[in-house]
Amino acid sequence: MTQLLLLLLLLLAPISLSMAESSTPPTTGQELLIGFKATPNPSVSSFQSLITDSNGNYSLGFLRVNETRLTLAVVHVPSSEIIWHANMTKLARWSDPTQLIFNGSLIISDSHSGVFWSTYTEGDRVWLSNTSNLQVQTSDGSVLWQSFDFPTDTLVENQNFTSNMSLVSSNGIYSMRLGQDFMGLYAKFKSGSDPGQIYWKHKALEAKAAILPGQPIYAVLKSDGFLGMYQNGSVPVDVQSFNSYLQPVSGVRRVRMETDGNLKGYFWTGSSWVLDYQAVSEPCDLPNSCGPYGLCEPGKGCACLDNQTDPNTGRCASPGNHNLVDFCTAYSIKYKVIRSNGVELPYKQLMGYQRMHTFQQCETACQQNCTCWGVVYSNTSGFCYILDYPIQSLMKVGDESKMGYFKVSEGVGKRKIDVGLGVGMGLVCGSILVFGVVVGYGWYRMRERKRGVSGYVKEDGVVGVGPYKDLGAASFRSIELSGR
Ligand SMILES: *[C@@H]1O[C@H](CO)[C@@H](O)[C@H](O)[C@H]1NC(C)=O
Ligand SMILES: *[C@@H]1O[C@H](CO)[C@@H](O)[C@H](O)[C@H]1NC(C)=O
Ligand SMILES: *[C@@H]1O[C@H](CO)[C@@H](O)[C@H](O)[C@H]1NC(C)=O
Ligand SMILES: *[C@@H]1O[C@H](CO)[C@@H](O)[C@H](O)[C@H]1NC(C)=O
Ligand SMILES: *[C@@H]1O[C@H](CO)[C@@H](O)[C@H](O)[C@H]1NC(C)=O
Ligand SMILES: *[C@@H]1O[C@H](CO)[C@@H](O)[C@H](O)[C@H]1NC(C)=O
Ligand SMILES: *[C@@H]1O[C@H](CO)[C@@H](O)[C@H](O)[C@H]1NC(C)=O
Ligand SMILES: *[C@@H]1O[C@H](CO)[C@@H](O)[C@H](O)[C@H]1NC(C)=O
Ligand SMILES: *[C@@H]1O[C@H](CO)[C@@H](O)[C@H](O)[C@H]1NC(C)=O
Ligand SMILES: *[C@@H]1O[C@H](CO)[C@@H](O)[C@H](O)[C@H]1NC(C)=O
Ligand SMILES: *[C@@H]1O[C@H](CO)[C@@H](O)[C@H](O)[C@H]1NC(C)=O
Repeated sequence: MTQLLLLLLLLLAPISLSMAESSTPPTTGQELLIGFKATPNPSVSSFQSLITDSNGNYSLGFLRVNETRLTLAVVHVPSSEIIWHANMTKLARWSDPTQLIFNGSLIISDSHSGVFWSTYTEGDRVWLSNTSNLQVQTSDGSVLWQSFDFPTDTLVENQNFTSNMSLVSSNGIYSMRLGQDFMGLYAKFKSGSDPGQIYWKHKALEAKAAILPGQPIYAVLKSDGFLGMYQNGSVPVDVQSFNSYLQPVSGVRRVRMETDGNLKGYFWTGSSWVLDYQAVSEPCDLPNSCGPYGLCEPGKGCACLDNQTDPNTGRCASPGNHNLVDFCTAYSIKYKVIRSNGVELPYKQLMGYQRMHTFQQCETACQQNCTCWGVVYSNTSGFCYILDYPIQSLMKVGDESKMGYFKVSEGVGKRKIDVGLGVGMGLVCGSILVFGVVVGYGWYRMRERKRGVSGYVKEDGVVGVGPYKDLGAASFRSIELSGR
């Protein structure tokens, strides 16, 4: 009996020992083995590294979100850019009961709420590749789970982006997806409208290979400096080349779905990221360049749809309008109307329309429909574009026969309805924002300075906030073009 107990103790000893050891997580380790356990360290303010890749370029660890919460993230160490984070519908707390374990599955849980996130695998080790791919592998090296299959907002070199994936901006509004034969950018301007309005579409040119109908396409960011679309094999059906196309660059490349709705490509110089691709090159072509009810004039900057509001105050309509779903409920039914000429939707080619004989007809259709926020009408073509989501930015055009009618809610004092960004999407860590904004915004500023443009408004005073601002709110739209 005693022998049996001893044997048991001996058998258990190495396990409990290894668990005790690993509960103070190594910061230099390169893999996690079964039995690994880590808890967030209360004194760490932003990122607690657990493992790194062989070069020390990337690190997997706990990332602080919203001050008291955490998610699991892979960061590029020299720049602190977040390359990937776990998509948790609910965030775990940065405090004691929360733990990360590896028992075959990589699991974040706490004793009260249970499992927040899991890879649901039966693997033998967790490993971070030198390309930032977090993998759960078996002992023979086969991959059971990899972060490359669940991208966040970033795609790195040679990562396969398939048609059932999406890159979602950290504010949860914008996404990049693949269609049958194109790449598209979508904006979700109200809840429940997945994926939302398409505002940019790049159809495959099929110069070197034709797309076979019925087979999905996928996209890959290539080291040569292009975003390629493929169907099978190595011959791309489309190539979107970057500024540094075919030029040797010093470091790795990445593309990110930014919070302003642009898809941007960067390469690493060894000390900074250099922007060398933007899907949307003209700021006014972004869906929300000047904020809600803003008016973007190419080469000039921002104004408001009504002439009374000063875009420099930061907003062209009361904030309630940003979060309202429609005008159908009792408290939201009151609205005033703005009419203006010489305005156009930046992405009207991608919008559905109805033909109407007069602007009056088009306007009436909207007036009588409480889910309609406004219309844009072309007097020459008779096209009536109906907007069934909160008004974003319009584009100023010289042609006065392009007319708009927009509803502005008067009845909403405070934000009653959340735009419905899932927590998972909005979980967006302060650091993502800070870096995203700093980099993206820095480039915009440089671009704008070159063009001599000034005065793109900031909508909500969020530029330059500390790292832990609530990013779940719709208030993050369009901060990138802000002019300070
Ligand atoms: C990764 O590390 C290697 C060697 O330390 C370095 O040459 C390379 O530039 C690094 N890459 C990135 C993306 O930081
Ligand atoms: C790993 O832990 C989770 C959560 O505690 C549990 O549900 C799962 O069964 C465990 N897996 C193994 C292989 O022990
Ligand atoms: C990354 O790792 C692979 C092997 O997994 C190796 O062939 C390659 O040279 C490494 N790259 C760098 C930059 O260290
Ligand atoms: C995160 O998870 C939610 C719910 O499971 C899903 O709707 C959303 O698309 C996911 N986000 C990403 C970036 O995959
Ligand atoms: C991407 O897909 C190709 C073929 O479809 C495959 O050979 C390659 O290993 C994949 N890359 C990754 C990182 O999964
Ligand atoms: C996504 O599509 C790929 C093939 O294109 C497939 O292998 C994979 O199982 C799909 N993933 C999901 C989550 O549907
Ligand atoms: C690739 O396309 C060719 C036709 O162009 C087809 O014959 C071949 O089977 C395809 N290969 C794969 C792996 O789907
Ligand atoms: C704004 O002012 C311009 C001229 O300054 C005028 O043409 C336009 O109709 C005005 N728009 C509104 C909505 O009042
Ligand atoms: C109201 O507009 C929505 C789209 O904005 C449309 O789906 C619906 O059919 C319209 N209702 C009526 C009664 O016209
Ligand atoms: C719209 O077109 C009609 C005739 O097609 C014309 O009479 C009217 O003046 C035009 N209105 C504007 C504002 O251009
Ligand atoms: C962050 O905290 C604020 C208030 O403390 C909360 O309203 C918001 O939903 C939180 N965001 C996330 C993503 O949990």
